[in-house]
Amino acid sequence: IERTFSIIKPDATKRNLTGKINSIIEGAGLRIVAQKRIRMTREQAETFYAVHKERPFFGELVDFMISEPVVVQVLEGENAIAKYREAMGATNPANAAPGTIRKEHALSVGENSVHGSDAPETAAIEIAQFFAGNEIVG
Ligand code: GTP
Ligand code: MG
Repeated sequence: IERTFSIIKPDATKRNLTGKINSIIEGAGLRIVAQKRIRMTREQAETFYAVHKERPFFGELVDFMISEPVVVQVLEGENAIAKYREAMGATNPANAAPGTIRKEHALSVGENSVHGSDAPETAAIEIAQFFAGNEIVG
């Protein structure tokens, strides 16, 4: 059984879409084993997206992630990482498949409603950035 880290991003929390997105997550066979609504600090957002710090959109991305509350989650299931990436859809909602979170809800490549880890190593790092072990109840 695998775990992945998810963020319901500011464009989605602002539009009150947490429940609709959680419904797609659960419909994909993933279990929400930890969840909290937080306001990310600038430092947390910069650390989280450090891999993108040389990209031209880095400043915009960090400003966006701290603009409204986010919901951070740990999702569990067989092949949770790949399964969630599939449920999310392509980074750019214009390229996302029907029924995916981004096709149904995202506004643009930047305001794309959700984050999901891309590999087991990053999932472990991302989960540890936001959750203590005893906050995850499988
Ligand atoms: P995440 O699950 O959020 O990591 O998305 P991803 O893996 O599908 O995309 P990637 O890691 O390449 O980019 C991380 C995030 O940066 C994206 O989800 C977007 O929010 C943002 N991003 C990527 N490309 C652009 C862009 O061209 N402009 C802006 N403003 N943001 C971008
Ligand atoms: Mg990514």
